[in-house]
Amino acid sequence: MEMENAVAKHSIPLLTPYKMGRFNLSHRVVLAPLTRQRSYGNVPQPHAVLYYSQRTSPGGFLIAEATGVSDTAQGYPDTPGIWTKEHVEAWKPIVEAVHAKGGVFFCQIWHVGRVSNRGFQPNGQAPISCSDKPLMPQIRSNGIDEAMFTPPRRLSTEEIPSIVNNFRLAARNAMEAGFDGVEIHGAHGYLIDQFMKDTVNDRTDEYGGSLQNRCKFALDIVEAVANEIGPDRVGIRLSPFADYMESADTNPQALALHMAESLNKYGILYCHVVEARMKTVGEVGECPPHMLLPMRKAFQGTFITVGGFTREDGNAAVAEGRTDLVAYGRWFLANPDLPKRFEVNADLNKYDRPTFYISDPVVGYTDYPFLESTTA
Ligand SMILES: Cc1cc2nc3c(=O)[nH]c(=O)nc-3n(C[C@H](O)[C@H](O)[C@H](O)COP(=O)(O)O)c2cc1C
Repeated sequence: MEMENAVAKHSIPLLTPYKMGRFNLSHRVVLAPLTRQRSYGNVPQPHAVLYYSQRTSPGGFLIAEATGVSDTAQGYPDTPGIWTKEHVEAWKPIVEAVHAKGGVFFCQIWHVGRVSNRGFQPNGQAPISCSDKPLMPQIRSNGIDEAMFTPPRRLSTEEIPSIVNNFRLAARNAMEAGFDGVEIHGAHGYLIDQFMKDTVNDRTDEYGGSLQNRCKFALDIVEAVANEIGPDRVGIRLSPFADYMESADTNPQALALHMAESLNKYGILYCHVVEARMKTVGEVGECPPHMLLPMRKAFQGTFITVGGFTREDGNAAVAEGRTDLVAYGRWFLANPDLPKRFEVNADLNKYDRPTFYISDPVVGYTDYPFLESTTA
């Protein structure tokens, strides 16, 4: 019976083992970073212990929700931080629970830049960005509330090293909390993406203008974080093709290739890229397939892809060598035992969008059912 199981698993590409640097993963179904806004006052809460441990399988890889690197990094209520001792202590039991079940756990480190307003900022100051270009108000993902943004203050060249240093310290804190590594959040129109994208970045110093200059902020952070905790514990998330939060690039293919090639110099563990078909953070649109292939071929480390994957096309992406690992967001949110469900080809729980971001410590968070046979 055991033998039969092993044979069955190995015929499912997503469930084959993979060695990601020092980490021996038993399958390729990754928990995507998912903001859940249940970290009251930016402090991770005990209910996250159950949430993450439910989604852990032995040898599975999990990426924690976006976690602020400093008091200027926030733009949403109740997202976790990792810049104080209290944050570090609060993360420890969560990380321990994931490790107790054999998971590998990275922390996604984040600065929102201009996707914020005075209400989230220390002393009610303006948010910071590469530019002073404001964002238009946007309907929040619940489809009702309107997010209002305060026009950002453009960072001076001299201030930039201190922001890079925030990421370095956050990475050190993540290691102190017990995480196995960090994922630098360079996607989705947040601070790092604001620097990279040519429709936002209008700087005239060495952090703006040419493609090389626009990527310098991201690469300064990669270098600082890799020097702090070792490149074999560092990943980065990028969304060159996306246009979230008014952060489009006019030549995303060139941006993607330049980043892949530049990252090779630092020897970081992985590059995690959002599929071009993702129209918004949680909505799949039409797009030619295989847009990420040139980037995948150029990058020498582990490649992770995310965005709109089902069991079937995740298996195809691995089988065809288009990626090493596939991250799942909404399906993993709603199916704590997703790898098991993929193994037995079980039906999936539907996800409940209205509870994605509510602050309830149970509802829409830890109450999604397991397959009956795996409730243990
Ligand atoms: C509720 C929710 C929260 C998210 N939070 C984050 C986040 O904190 N960091 C991030 O990089 N992406 C975030 N995303 C994007 C997901 O990681 C993922 O890229 C997206 O859901 C597409 O994958 P899927 O089609 O498998 O859901 C979030 C998406 C959802 C639905």
